[in-house]
Amino acid sequence: MERNEFIKSLGLGVAAVCTGACFSACGKKSDSPEPSKPNGGGVPPGTTASVDLTTQLLTVGASVTVGGILFIRTATGNASTSFVATQAACPHQGGTLSFIQASNYIQCGLHSSRYTTSGSILAQPNDGGTTSALKIYTVTVSGNTLSATA
Ligand code: FES
Repeated sequence: MERNEFIKSLGLGVAAVCTGACFSACGKKSDSPEPSKPNGGGVPPGTTASVDLTTQLLTVGASVTVGGILFIRTATGNASTSFVATQAACPHQGGTLSFIQASNYIQCGLHSSRYTTSGSILAQPNDGGTTSALKIYTVTVSGNTLSATA
């Protein structure tokens, strides 16, 4: 074998070993699990959602979810203090949160954790897990449009 041929074959061998190692590493799944609730179930910071107050949230206790934000009317009138906006996904494992008007609390449909409209925890999940307080978003009213920004 000529010297040049030997060097070329050596280079190809090293390249093959490196490529194999890279494919092997890339094909493995990570040992660390993906987070099940990125951002604690809240929407990404800066996200804005809006509600048309001429057609939605007409009565005290009404609620609606728009863009991952749960809006609740807590008082009459269209002042910003008449509404609460919070995350619509549970901080525990992302279950859907709903406002239970008759009990005046927010409840998760997955493991039944409960929260006040100010985001405090009333009851932990029924699966033995632990949840955290809800994010409360600032609301503004402009004309007949209610908006919240995460
Ligand atoms: S996902 Fe809401 S309590 Fe588990």
